[in-house]
Amino acid sequence: MSQRYAEITGWGTALPPAVLTNDDMSRIVETSDEWIASRTGIKERRISHVDVSELGRVAGLRAIAAAGLEPAQIDMVITATCTPENLLPATAGLIQDKIGATGAGAMDLNANCSGFVYAHVVADSMIKSGAANRVLVLGAEKFSYILDWTDRGTCVLFGDGAGAIVVEPTDEPIGLLASELGNDGSAAQHLCLPGRGTAGSVAALDPRTAGLRMNGPEIFRRAVTMMGDASSRVIAAAGWELDDVDLLVPHQANQRILDATARRLGLDSAKVFSNLHAYGNTSAATIPIALAEAVEQGRVDAGANLVFVAFGGGLSWAAGAIKWGERTEPLGSSDAALPAFDGDALELLRPNIEFFGGEISA
Ligand code: ACO
Repeated sequence: MSQRYAEITGWGTALPPAVLTNDDMSRIVETSDEWIASRTGIKERRISHVDVSELGRVAGLRAIAAAGLEPAQIDMVITATCTPENLLPATAGLIQDKIGATGAGAMDLNANCSGFVYAHVVADSMIKSGAANRVLVLGAEKFSYILDWTDRGTCVLFGDGAGAIVVEPTDEPIGLLASELGNDGSAAQHLCLPGRGTAGSVAALDPRTAGLRMNGPEIFRRAVTMMGDASSRVIAAAGWELDDVDLLVPHQANQRILDATARRLGLDSAKVFSNLHAYGNTSAATIPIALAEAVEQGRVDAGANLVFVAFGGGLSWAAGAIKWGERTEPLGSSDAALPAFDGDALELLRPNIEFFGGEISA
């Protein structure tokens, strides 16, 4: 029997229409466009007016159409998210129902910002083993819901959105050629969300402690080291030289992290895809959103060598070396769209800001 490989055949995104600019951010916390743009590269981010499964529905249907498939042909839905719609059921199950993937299994995967790369590896492994044939892999997040809107060290960094890919079997030696999944649980406290799970006594639940906590400089240092080194290892494991890499599609957290990762790798920064100026850090959704935009912008040629690399809570990291197939155009398009919203991102956030005791200044 010839060896089975697994190719990315579809891609799609769902980006909520409400834009929160850095100037808007300066009405929530003491900050400025100058500080955020120069320290992170972020200019604006999206705030979702819908739940995570709705973001996933739209990104998923667009990816399935781009693959030239019908939802009923999907046999597994994997949603990478650390902002699930509920603790249960899994958000992937909600998406499976909404898109009409009636023949599919569904599961969520939480490896924080590295979740999409983990989910891609799981999909690839399922296809190669014969456990699945056509897998929809999503990264879908609503970080605006879990941020402490009085903490300027975190709330300026994140945004909402979803991206998706379809992975299908092929006999060609393309797709995911090498991968690395890692985690250092001993450092988990540097990036965490206490108070929203099942730890401790229910009686001790205090909503004012229930926002994202992050040790920014520590995460920065570890992100650069792990993203650079994990990329080097999967490049070598794929049998490539650094020059063989056509495009690095990294987790989008901070432009300075991307620049430092490229320097550590010795990779020309022109080969590093970045769109975080427009969306901030959408956690598990950054890589599928970036990939879809890279393909749409003509940055991915037939047969291109890509590297996905991510770092995040856990503290987790993940990398994959991917050989793209022949097709760089979608086979079809979907008219799936998010419900219209013509309101203001700041007003959308008002309940979240007030929950943490913050306010919107004039
Ligand atoms: N506006 C203005 N000043 C700010 C802001 C802000 N939004 N945030 C922090 N500052 C201040 C701090 O209070 C501090 O002031 P002080 O010196 O008076 O105390 C000063 O800026 C410097 O703070 P640092 O934390 O040292 O700033 P740094 O240059 O490290 O940048 C940042 C902070 C942007 C958070 C950076 O550390 C970073 O990007 N870290 C990685 C974060 C990350 O990528 N997280 C996500 C990865 S995992 C995942 O995606 C879930």
